[in-house]
Amino acid sequence: MTAPLWTGKQIIEATSGDCAQTDWICNGVNIDNRVVEKDDLFIAIKGPNNDGHDYVKAALEAGASAALVSHVPEGVDKDKLVLVEDTQTAMEKLGEAARNRTDARIIAVTGSVGKTGTKEALAHLLSRQGKTHYSIGSFNNHWGVPLSLCRMPLESEYGIFELGMNHAGELGPLSKMVRPDVAIITIIAPAHMEFFESTDDVARAKAEIFEGVKENGVVLLNADDSHFPLLKGLAETRGDLEIRYFGENDLAHIRLNNAQLMPESSIIDATIFGQNHHFTIPLAGRHWVQNALAVLGGIALIGGDTGKACADFADLAAPSGRGALIDLESPSGRYVVIDESYNASPVAMEAAFKVLAGKKVEGMGRKIAVLGDMRELGEKSPEIHRNLAAGLLASGVDLVYASGPNMQHLYDALPLPKKASFADKSDALVGPLKQEVRADDIVLIKGSLGSNMKVILNGLVGQSDMLRKQSEGRA
Ligand SMILES: Nc1ncnc2c1ncn2[C@@H]1O[C@H](COP(=O)(O)OP(=O)(O)OP(=O)(O)O)[C@@H](O)[C@H]1O
Ligand SMILES: [Mg+2]
Repeated sequence: MTAPLWTGKQIIEATSGDCAQTDWICNGVNIDNRVVEKDDLFIAIKGPNNDGHDYVKAALEAGASAALVSHVPEGVDKDKLVLVEDTQTAMEKLGEAARNRTDARIIAVTGSVGKTGTKEALAHLLSRQGKTHYSIGSFNNHWGVPLSLCRMPLESEYGIFELGMNHAGELGPLSKMVRPDVAIITIIAPAHMEFFESTDDVARAKAEIFEGVKENGVVLLNADDSHFPLLKGLAETRGDLEIRYFGENDLAHIRLNNAQLMPESSIIDATIFGQNHHFTIPLAGRHWVQNALAVLGGIALIGGDTGKACADFADLAAPSGRGALIDLESPSGRYVVIDESYNASPVAMEAAFKVLAGKKVEGMGRKIAVLGDMRELGEKSPEIHRNLAAGLLASGVDLVYASGPNMQHLYDALPLPKKASFADKSDALVGPLKQEVRADDIVLIKGSLGSNMKVILNGLVGQSDMLRKQSEGRA
């Protein structure tokens, strides 16, 4: 039997909390009562819209063994509460306790794009080499990072954490909580720009990740990124860090010799700390090649087996909403959706257009792009949207559907024959698109999470399920 994640006593001690009962354990930690499972610790966090204290009762009813609170909510049994002054601070303290007690080798990943993809690939590959704990989804902010730490089992051998920010001053404290052995910066690009004047400022804020790296730890940088000299200089100021790079650059420690980009995969020839590796990643696009180099660098730097990792890339799947290919049914036959509905920024859009460019349509199929607003781009947003036109047209797109006030600027810049439909909100595109799709189409769906492009995917999946059921009924 494995040890519990936390005993009541350990939680009380780590958080300096007050609880009458100590003879309980928990095997998970949650701050959202809707996903609480039996034996979880529920932490009542006060957010901008909701106060977790209103959900303590529901969390305990759902099976939580205890709740961390800063006051006793009405109608809740006090015996199951750990009373602390401030629940956010208590969660951070519990996270620190998890970090202090572990012998796991820790990697922290930041960057403007590619954090989750890199983190998920590291998790996929390292799980084959040892007990691996990793942040779920994009849990990368002031609550996501400590929560992910609190969830790290004692016996973990590897820990992988995603660190994100949209203001200067946010990443340093997160990195100090995680205290990584290795910090990776994927790439600096115009994403999450609302509170920054330039990408150099973004780079400086991302460089705060160096603050928490363990003494004599390692920083892994992208040598092909134009912000590389700036980041390298900032890393050097700490004095004790090893600085390693990945990329096409001749000096890179993880060097790309050749990448053969194919419609659904890439064959990579790379030299990793002097050793040659030849392997395939089953994901399309130059951006995934770049992320794969960062991943292999991370694995090498924490003492993992890069040869095994290269082989294990074979069954890596794209994280949901970030390039996954979905086969769907239209009234006239099968077509494919490239599901990029989770996220969008200018570099991510360009990366997706290149993937679309690399696809070949069969028969009467067409390339269709369904695009929603890229959020958090600040006042230059209309111009940035408009500037996507050249890359989009170079993809060989036949029809464009667009939604959102910013995407309208791109839509307006397109030649008439490419314009299929524009709507203020994404849901209005579902009907027209369902009418339009046909056999052999390739449909790229992309927009920021807040643009709700998922509703379009769901509409197409619903239509496809219905058509499949109908054809099964007829069979
Ligand atoms: N190295 C890269 N270069 C350019 N674009 C990339 C790269 N990696 C991923 N992308 C694009 O960025 C999108 C988001 O990827 P991912 O979710 O991994 O980023 P993230 O940094 O975790 O984003 P978030 O800030 O929302 O957490 C992907 O769908 C893909 O289009
Ligand atoms: Mg992410």
